[in-house]
Amino acid sequence: MRLAVNIDHFATLREARKASEPEPALVAMLAEQAGAQAIVCHIRSDRRHIKERDLRVLRETVKTGLNVEMAATEEMKRVALEIRPDVVSLVPERPEELTTEGGLKVASNRKALAAHVKALGKAGIRTSIFIDTSLAEIAAAREIGADLVEINTGPYAELREGKERDKALAAVRKAAAYGRKIGLEVHGGHGLDYRNVGPIVAIPEIAELSIGFAIVARAAVVGIEQAVLDMLALLGT
Ligand code: PXP
Repeated sequence: MRLAVNIDHFATLREARKASEPEPALVAMLAEQAGAQAIVCHIRSDRRHIKERDLRVLRETVKTGLNVEMAATEEMKRVALEIRPDVVSLVPERPEELTTEGGLKVASNRKALAAHVKALGKAGIRTSIFIDTSLAEIAAAREIGADLVEINTGPYAELREGKERDKALAAVRKAAAYGRKIGLEVHGGHGLDYRNVGPIVAIPEIAELSIGFAIVARAAVVGIEQAVLDMLALLGT
């Protein structure tokens, strides 16, 4: 299974002092050298961590694939068309949230999202939709022309081992199988860490996991290369 490393929180650390380091592009290079198969970052409307300048540098330096998470707004469409990441991940965004709180609602917003995905596709950008485990939402993502879906593993990751977590895991498994069946590439992410990633790795339909906070937190202690290597070992990569 491929590992996409989300580097947002290195930029969060930089912004804590409004300084020029750590440099997200340097972190991305080291993560790639350790074996990460893609680099992810999220440009938020408040630019609280990643900024346009970071995207421009990352676009020039990332050698694997650059996946930029963003809201499906006109402002962000302009950013995407300027930067041209390999993948744009459309996510919902609530200004005060600490992190993305759930999947994008696709079925209720098909027309606008279909136009958005089409505009990105014309520029050669693949679109991913961050999505909850609802099969109807996954079907809607396919219908609006998304290339892939990233299934929200947050509800699973928030639970301790037990029946409730097993249920959340079964929902991810079912969603992944359905996504593949209808022709989507299926990724997963949110809240995954070194302890809870195992059962998600065992889902054969999931091709890639997007992991940020847990890797950044470990990297602060052992370094980004070791943190990436430790996660790759769990992914069997
Ligand atoms: N996937 C999406 C769509 C996200 O918004 C985030 C958080 O930025 C992640 C994955 C990574 O989540 P975490 O930082 O909890 O690993």
